[in-house]
Amino acid sequence: MRYPESFEIAGHRLSPPLVLSPMAGVTDSPFRRVAKKRGGLGLIVTEFISVEGLTRGNMRTHDMMRFKAEERPIAIQIFGYDEVRMRWAAEIAQESGADFVDINCGCPARKVVHGGGGSNLLRDLPQLKKILTEVKRAITIPMTVKIRAGWDDKSINCVEVAKLIEDCGGSMVTLHGRTRVQGYRGFANWDLVQEIKHNVSIPVSGSGDVLTPADAMRRFDEIGCDAVHIGRGAIANPWIFRQTWEAMNGLTPYQPSPREMHDLLLEFRDNLRETMPEKGVIGRMKMLSAQFLRGVPNGAHIRTAVLRSQSIDEMEPLFEQYFELAEIYGIDAALQSARDDQAELAECGV
Ligand SMILES: Cc1cc2nc3c(=O)[nH]c(=O)nc-3n(C[C@H](O)[C@H](O)[C@H](O)COP(=O)(O)O)c2cc1C
Repeated sequence: MRYPESFEIAGHRLSPPLVLSPMAGVTDSPFRRVAKKRGGLGLIVTEFISVEGLTRGNMRTHDMMRFKAEERPIAIQIFGYDEVRMRWAAEIAQESGADFVDINCGCPARKVVHGGGGSNLLRDLPQLKKILTEVKRAITIPMTVKIRAGWDDKSINCVEVAKLIEDCGGSMVTLHGRTRVQGYRGFANWDLVQEIKHNVSIPVSGSGDVLTPADAMRRFDEIGCDAVHIGRGAIANPWIFRQTWEAMNGLTPYQPSPREMHDLLLEFRDNLRETMPEKGVIGRMKMLSAQFLRGVPNGAHIRTAVLRSQSIDEMEPLFEQYFELAEIYGIDAALQSARDDQAELAECGV
């Protein structure tokens, strides 16, 4: 099997065909920079940004849009309902220097859906058409769209939506093959990615449950998608893009040493401290630690202690302990991907 070396969005060639999937509360600039530095990333997408916040001058929302040159190529993802605000927000994203504007039509969160945006747009195609038409008219950079399979099992309409996106001038469609009602349960349906691929001529990327290089390669092989988005798998392992790219090229995937993993955490801390108050830094360090400090036999109690800590000073010796254990026992990939994060995060009050 020859894997694609790149993919193209409206004449912009991006390589490798691997994308950091947008994740609210995760893919902010400090995390994006950490991931990008590990290599193998062809495109980065920001966490979703509210058009209400952007167009009403909310400074926190505007801060979310900031990125550094080293993060390019980058898509800024926006969400909302009103086509005038969507258009205006897309203009703001373009002015901020984004390479692409990505429209969110997949978020299942109640608050977003009640506002009419996210996956709600999958059941309001006239409004989606208005939004896409307005945004496309307003910007000169390419517009891409990320969708879900449909609202629920009985209304799977992603192929129809993908065609609408193409008709309205969208330059790429990404499918996370779960329905809104499904949330994150079960598995993403990649057959739908293939069905979309057969029905549109713009590039198609797939998203959902890619946790290892082999998962991504299987999708290229079986589905024939142009790119693969990786979300949660990149939190646990920011090297996943590099490893996948190496595996796609017949090389042995790079295995970071415990020391490098430790350095990554500290680098993330330093990135966070550039713009965030210490309380925020603690929360974000816990978020990463919950998934990142996995795979060391007998290391779970250290991860739990990190999640319970009250300060970064309290966390740092725990990181030392964890990576010392990692040096001794190694990291077990099976343990690394066995996750029950929500329960653990809730238990630790994160
Ligand atoms: C914490 C979290 C936040 C997310 N936020 C967004 C978002 O802001 N925009 C979006 O389009 N998708 C969002 N997603 C969906 C992911 O981009 C991705 O499509 C989904 O998690 C499936 O891929 P994965 O199994 O590789 O994580 C989010 C997912 C998670 C877990």
